Parts: sequence; C-alpha cells; structure tokens
Amino acid sequence: MEKLIIQGGTSLKGSLEISGSKNSSLPILAGMLLCEGKTTVANLPHLQDVTTSLELLGSLGVELSIDENRYVEADTRTVHSLATPPELVGKMRASILVLGPMLSRFGEATVSFPGGCAIGNRPIDLHIAGMESLGAEIIIEDGFIKASRKGRLRGATIILPFPSVGATENIIMAATLAEGTTRIKNCALEPEIIDLIKCLNAWGANISGAGTSSIVVQGVKKMDGGFFRVMSDRIETATYLAAAAATSGKIRTMRADPSNISAVLEKFRKTGGDLTFGVDWIELDMRGKRPKAVNITTGPYPCFPTDMQAQFTVVNSLAIGIAQVTETIFENRLAQVQELRCMGAKIALNNNVAVITGVPKLTGTHVMASDLRASAALVIAGVAAEGETTIDEIHHVDRGYECFEEKLHQLGAKITRLPS
Ligand code: EPZ
Repeated sequence: MEKLIIQGGTSLKGSLEISGSKNSSLPILAGMLLCEGKTTVANLPHLQDVTTSLELLGSLGVELSIDENRYVEADTRTVHSLATPPELVGKMRASILVLGPMLSRFGEATVSFPGGCAIGNRPIDLHIAGMESLGAEIIIEDGFIKASRKGRLRGATIILPFPSVGATENIIMAATLAEGTTRIKNCALEPEIIDLIKCLNAWGANISGAGTSSIVVQGVKKMDGGFFRVMSDRIETATYLAAAAATSGKIRTMRADPSNISAVLEKFRKTGGDLTFGVDWIELDMRGKRPKAVNITTGPYPCFPTDMQAQFTVVNSLAIGIAQVTETIFENRLAQVQELRCMGAKIALNNNVAVITGVPKLTGTHVMASDLRASAALVIAGVAAEGETTIDEIHHVDRGYECFEEKLHQLGAKITRLPS
C-alpha cells in the first residue's frame, strides 16, 4: 500500500485540465458489449476503475487496442466467455453494469455478486428486478448472479422506486436490443446517463427522453458500433474548486462543463468566492479569504451530488460559521468526519447529519483514507492544514482522480507519495 505525505499551509492557485468522466466511462465501456461492430471511445481517464473495466472486457474475450491518443477500440466478435472473474467484480462494484449488455446481446451472463463497500451496503435489487421485467430469468446462488433469456428480451414498462443511477444504466442497456418498447419511469437524471444515451444512440440504439425521468427505448436488432468521446468529469471539476475554497485560493478548471454542476456552483457562490465561468471553464477565486459556511443536503440529480459531500465537509470545517451537511443517498458516507476531527475539525455527528463549526485552521497529522471521495477530501484538508499530514491507504484516490498529485503540484501543493 502507499501513503501521501503533504506539507500543508498552501493556498492553491493556477489552472488545470479536467479529465474524462469516470462515471460516464464505466457504463460506456460496458455498453461496448452491445455492439457487433467495432467501437472506439475517446477521452477515457487514466484511472484504476477504467483499467479494471478494460481487464473485465478482456477477460470475456473482447479484443482491445489503445492508440497513441489513448483512444480505446473494442471488437466483441471474439467474446468467448459470459462469466465475469470474481476478483475483478470484487475490485469494482460498477462491474455489475456488464449484466444488462451481456444478457441482451449474448443471452446470458454470470456476474459475481458485487459486495458492499465503505460507503454502504449498495444492493442491486433494482438491477435484478429490471432484468426480470424484461423477461430475464435470474438465479442467485453461491454469490453469483446467473442471468439468462429464452429468445430476445421483451420491452416492458419499468417504474424505479428510487432513481438509481446504475439500475437506470443497466436497464437502458439491456433494453437496447430487446424486442419492442421499454419505458423506464422515475429513472435517474445524472448527466452521465445523458452521455451514455448519446453514446448508445451513436452506436445504433434508439433511445429518447435523455435528461428526463421517463426514458423510452425502442429495441433494435443490432448495434453497429462507432466512435464516442466521453464527457468531462464533473466531480473532478468540483473537487478542485472545493480545494480552492478550502485553501482560500484561486483555481481555474479547463475542459469543464458548468452546465452539469449547477447545484454545486450555487454552493460555491454562497461560500463568498468569486465564481466565473465560460462554455468550457470554471474559476473560483476566494481572494485569499476563508469560505463562509454553507448547508449541504445531498440528493439525486439535479440536487447536490453525494460525490461532493466529503469535499464540502472539509470546506465547512475551515469556514466562517456553522453548517449542516446531510447525506441522504448512502448510509455510511461520513467516514471522513472522524479523520477530520483528528486534524482539529469541530464536527458533531447525528446519524447522517454532520454539524460543522468552522475553525480558522486544521493541523496536519496521520489519517486513513477509506473510500474514493473521503480520500480526496482528506488530501484537500492536508493541503489546507498547518504542518505535515500523512494519509495511509491512498490507493482509494487512484480509482477516481487522474494524476491527482501531479495536478495538485501544478497548483502549488507539496505532496509526496511513498510506499507505506
Ligand atoms: C453511482 O453509483 C456512482 N457510481 C456513484 O459514484 C454515485 O455516488 C451514485 O451513483 C449516486 O449518484 C458510478 O456511476 C460508477 P445508485 P450507483 O444506484 O449506481 C440504492 C463515486 O464516488 N440502491 O444511484 O451504485 C443504493 O444503495 C461513486 O464516483 C438500491 O437500494 O448509485 C444507494 O443508497 C460512489 N438498490 C442509492 O440507491 C439498487 O439496486 C443510490 O445508488 C441500486 C441502488
């Protein structure tokens, strides 16, 4: 395992380029399995989860090539296995997203049950129910999900009890090659789903309603594949802006899309920073001042994203005033609180609500990363804190932030990665 050593007390300043979206890349890579023709995806971020997805496709027999621009091309005519290796699914829950494409294209799929993770139990009952609504037979035994179909999947009307991002994506992909029309109601609205629908339509699917809570999929016989460029990562963008807010700095994010993080930008405005943006850039200038405390409640898009909650816990820890941060999506996603307390943060926890009394400074110490976004939050806290911070188990951050230390170095941070 590795750790990060951070010399704190830095106010981050400068600009950086945002990478492709992890949470758009993962379903799109799974969607490659739907296509008989070759598919090429551009702007994939260089992340552990993308590498795991490519390993997963390779293990099924997909022929993959990567060119000098890091465009990934896939040819699925060589698929020879319909069972995902348990060790890969165990590394990344999003592996469940191959269930719908494999079932719809090849007629069967065996996926090991993705366990929970640090932020919660993360069941997949809505994924399973969606597949069954489309006519799949699902058997769960010995920790595996065995899905199969007699003939093609059949279009259906599916009403999601909760706008689950992953279940929406899996059902859309399973429905693309089903017989007839599928209507998905109360589906998730996240921008990554719009990106997935744009991609699948470019590859030959027939999906309408992107960006609404009611998606209609007209089943097609086959998808010929083609090219697609993944959107930029809105959570990476907002994470760097949160780093500006927490360190009273000034950061411009390039290749960023301000239209898909409106709820977060609203909160940055409330911190008192100068927020400016153009079509493909966003800048937050704190003018050297501490942020004002801002209340946060996470919720499904277009509400404030749960993936930005940990980062704003750090902003509020250093803010002027008292703020309440409420996590409504995952049952265990406030793990960073305990670590921030060790750095001097004043946070009272009551189930999924953190009441944070801002302090003028945090003090560097030894902390432990637990999940992807909590790790990013602790790195921001270490850069802002006075003194040295050591963060163990830093591999979590490699799952979702491309060249994290390098980009932070560019902004003035003093960070070294060492073996633990
Ligand atoms: C996606 O996870 C993202 N991951 C998560 O980002 C993100 O936090 C989450 O959506 C919410 O926005 C990817 O896109 C790869 P959900 P997903 O299904 O699809 C419950 C990150 O840090 N639920 O919308 O797993 C579930 O337990 C990651 O980048 C069921 O009960 O999220 C949770 O409480 C973390 N049954 C809630 O719904 C199901 O079948 C939201 O889950 C599915 C979900």
